[in-house]
Amino acid sequence: MSAEKLLSLKAYNTFGIEHTCVSIINADSKGSLIQSCCDLHQKNKPFLVLGGGSNILLTEDYLGTIVRVLTKGISVTDDEGHYFVTVEAGENWHGLVKHCLDLGIAGLENLALIPGSVGAAPIQNIGAYGVEFIDVCDWVEYVDLTDGQLKRLTSAECRFGYRDSIFKMELKGLAIITSVGLKLLKNWQPQLNYGPLQQFDIKNVTPLQVFNCICATRMTKLPDPMVLGNAGSFFKNPMVTAAHFLVLQKTYPNIVGYPSNDSIKLAAAWLIDSAGLKGFAIGKAAVHEQQALVLINKGGATGNDVAHLARHIIEKIYTQFSVNLEVEPRIIGAYGERELNDGRTMAT
Ligand code: FAD
Ligand code: EPU
Repeated sequence: MSAEKLLSLKAYNTFGIEHTCVSIINADSKGSLIQSCCDLHQKNKPFLVLGGGSNILLTEDYLGTIVRVLTKGISVTDDEGHYFVTVEAGENWHGLVKHCLDLGIAGLENLALIPGSVGAAPIQNIGAYGVEFIDVCDWVEYVDLTDGQLKRLTSAECRFGYRDSIFKMELKGLAIITSVGLKLLKNWQPQLNYGPLQQFDIKNVTPLQVFNCICATRMTKLPDPMVLGNAGSFFKNPMVTAAHFLVLQKTYPNIVGYPSNDSIKLAAAWLIDSAGLKGFAIGKAAVHEQQALVLINKGGATGNDVAHLARHIIEKIYTQFSVNLEVEPRIIGAYGERELNDGRTMAT
């Protein structure tokens, strides 16, 4: 463990927004992660745990300590039908996907190239191309800040939903995820329902082919944060009732929506695109030309540029479609997580 003072956070958020914090702790062992977080919590000192910083938007200098989760370790056991993979929270998610493939363990390939850490994966139940974290999760281990104890939740107890889990509900701000357990079938079942994956023959396809296809697809659609700062999709795909969808379809016959439980999940990218907002910019923040759901930092954007842009999009989409867009990344202000619309620094 090492402590640094007044470091810029630019390198620690994939939006590449320039903001600072009071101090940074690099927690490279489970012991130091637990001790740091519990100490700060007990002393009532503000702190924020960060993995890869790929799902945050900094809007102000953070007046607290950033605890970077850098714990490493992957181990594998098995039984007749499964591999059980235990992974420390600071491992890189995409690195884990590749490592498993190298070991001949399949099941994570649809989730290739999702940036960030393994410890953050359960928080919003990461998902892509027909697979979500819930589909591979056995358990999640976390330290409970209220009593300092390490606890384990089964996948069912995590109450995963679309971009949601117990860690965004009653355990929000109280649980530091330390490791996860994955359960992967030895008898691999390819998930080929999504767009570019439909080209494959389910009988002959290999996990590596799926992995390569996912990586290639993502690289054409999503900007590389090293080149154009971003946090992936800035909004969740909104759910509307079937009745609302039918009304929208009358005016917009090409609207994109998929049945999801009893509702319809709309493609927010389609809404933003159809509202003519592709390329629209406020300051140095813009709507990405290749994927309208992604907001980008064209270079030198402030968090408030991005926040203003996001608010403009929300208003425009509501006015045109009567649909509410919800923000996906966590908005971080001077005192920690905040709402996009709490009005402190975002007056237009
Ligand atoms: P961070 O941004 O570091 O943290 C996010 C939140 O989790 C913060 O509130 C933080 O305090 C908290 N947190 C982080 N680690 C811990 C921990 N160990 N314990 C407790 N709290 C913690 N997401 C998808 O679901 N699907 C995608 O396809 C996808 N594609 C993306 C593409 C790009 C180009 C980018 C930039 C992002 C994409 N994302 C996607 C979003 C992002 O990659 C995921 O949300 C990822 O899980 C975030 O991991 P992180 O380590 O960077 O989290
Ligand atoms: N579309 C447009 N214009 C665009 C982009 C897309 O009209 O500019 C339409 C297309 O018709 C397309 C549809 O929107 O069929 C959906 O687009 P896409 O397949 O690219 O996926 P998405 O719904 O925009 C979601 C996730 C991504 C995930 C992909 C692949 C959310 C909020 N986003 O995006 O996750 O990688 O599906 O499964 O659910 C993230 O969460 O950060 C993220 C990148």
